Amino acid sequence: MSGRRILVTSALPYANGHIHIGHLVEYLQTDIWARYQRLAGNRCLYVCADDTHGTAIMLRARDEDRPETEVIAEMSEAHQRDFADFDIRFDHYGSTNSESNREICHEIWASLTAAGMIQRRDVKQLFDPEKGIFLADRFVKGKCPRCGAPDQYGDSCDECGATYSASDVIDPVSTLSNTAPELRTAEHIFVEIEQLHDFLTVWTQTSDHLQPEIANFLQSNFLSDGLRDWDVSRPAPYFGFEIPDAPDNYWYVWFDAPVGYIASTKEWCDANGEELDDWWRSDDVEIHHFIGKDIVYFHALFWPAMLQTAGLNLPDRIRVHGFLTVEGAKMSKSKGTFVRARTYLDHLGPSYLRYFYASKLGAGLDDLDLHGDDLAAKVNSDLVGKVVNLASRTARFVKATGLSETYPDDGGLFEEAAAEGDRIADAYERADIAKAMRLVMALADKANVFVEKAEPWKLKKEEGRERDVQDVSTIALNLFRQIAIYLSPVLPRLQAQTGALLGRPIESWDESKTPLTGTPVAKFKPMLQRLDPKTVEAMYAASAES
Ligand code: 2FM
Ligand code: ZN
Repeated sequence: MSGRRILVTSALPYANGHIHIGHLVEYLQTDIWARYQRLAGNRCLYVCADDTHGTAIMLRARDEDRPETEVIAEMSEAHQRDFADFDIRFDHYGSTNSESNREICHEIWASLTAAGMIQRRDVKQLFDPEKGIFLADRFVKGKCPRCGAPDQYGDSCDECGATYSASDVIDPVSTLSNTAPELRTAEHIFVEIEQLHDFLTVWTQTSDHLQPEIANFLQSNFLSDGLRDWDVSRPAPYFGFEIPDAPDNYWYVWFDAPVGYIASTKEWCDANGEELDDWWRSDDVEIHHFIGKDIVYFHALFWPAMLQTAGLNLPDRIRVHGFLTVEGAKMSKSKGTFVRARTYLDHLGPSYLRYFYASKLGAGLDDLDLHGDDLAAKVNSDLVGKVVNLASRTARFVKATGLSETYPDDGGLFEEAAAEGDRIADAYERADIAKAMRLVMALADKANVFVEKAEPWKLKKEEGRERDVQDVSTIALNLFRQIAIYLSPVLPRLQAQTGALLGRPIESWDESKTPLTGTPVAKFKPMLQRLDPKTVEAMYAASAES
């Protein structure tokens, strides 16, 4: 296959929780983008993995009295089932707790060490003697050292906005045991990323690697000053990989998590007879990371620093999206708007959410809101009313005859929509999926005007108009098929149904440029049901109960 070679990733989901509709914004956005690339004839690998290490998993395993490996294996299965049922298609789904990940972490560590970027020094940290672990900031609560507000987390104060270190909290309490922690000293290992300050300034501020807002955020919040050393070690007990030459010290989860992108690619390469270096040490590949705006700091500073030092490819593009709100507010368990992927699927089909998110996801960082009434209105008016309707109203008229042998005169509609395909493709390419959807729906409006005017259902009743009925239906079904091709990255089920209806699977974007003629037409089967807003209410109710 000619075309570009593209490696795409989404952020690796934590193994200590289920996939919810907030996560799905990113996985659907990435899947749509990857599907578009494949349809356009590019070679596109989409890899992901579970992010398995850290204190939270260790504590969960302790609570459940079983090994971490069992907890993460179970969650990986649940994640993969959820993704598959949302039609999210990975080329490979791995785990950060894998031998391939350990090996690559070791390689990168050796490069950082050889570059003289590793430092060791003592750190004072709160320790919970009852649980026997050092406490991450979020496991400490107490009075804010600035304003004295009670019950504040160990990293920042919700009342006055102060940020501080957990050891400064007044009257600290461990949230794990509800006892007072002790201040203990332990040696930590740091990466001195200041050594790459100039490189990171150039990398983040030029060449379109990041959206401008993100580049500015990094410049004003981090790069305008010296970069602080990154503390990448955690003392035992910790679920993770032990650091070489540092017994009883483990890499902090954020060190080995992004390495999981490479490890997952490696596992795919091993299974498919390919070389990892062709994907991570090559001029002939593009790497695109899709992430949320909360984890920019790791992906746009530490990660490029690690890759650059290890002589690996840097991402060509980090695509940051906004957060999801539901019914105008942050997702909330008590309101039932914290909806797990599985609860959604128990009530609604995946295509609805795929289309809804697609219609909201621009190339920027704006947050998007899922509103039940909007979801129903959009799906019903666009997909059912404008798109599927084109086929449902005309397919039966040509079931016996098939499509006309030559494409009839449609007044230039097909040609116009074929030309519009370039603008739609461009919108997908820039990850402005919302724009692509607007352009497609404008075509659907035009196609509907044509069918309304031509009224094949009336022609059908008139004597001697069989040929006209066939021609009108041939036009309508070709306009429908063109739209289905343009929507294929978003709606793979519609893609397959359209292929089955018209006896020709949709396999490439360019099929939108040539009309189908003379092919048989199958019996029309319903493609998408109208969505009753009450179903969304039922989904919230079920989420509130779980
Ligand atoms: O924020 C998160 O959910 C992390 N688990 C993302 C990791 S992304 C990558 F670096 F692995
Ligand atoms: Zn305060």
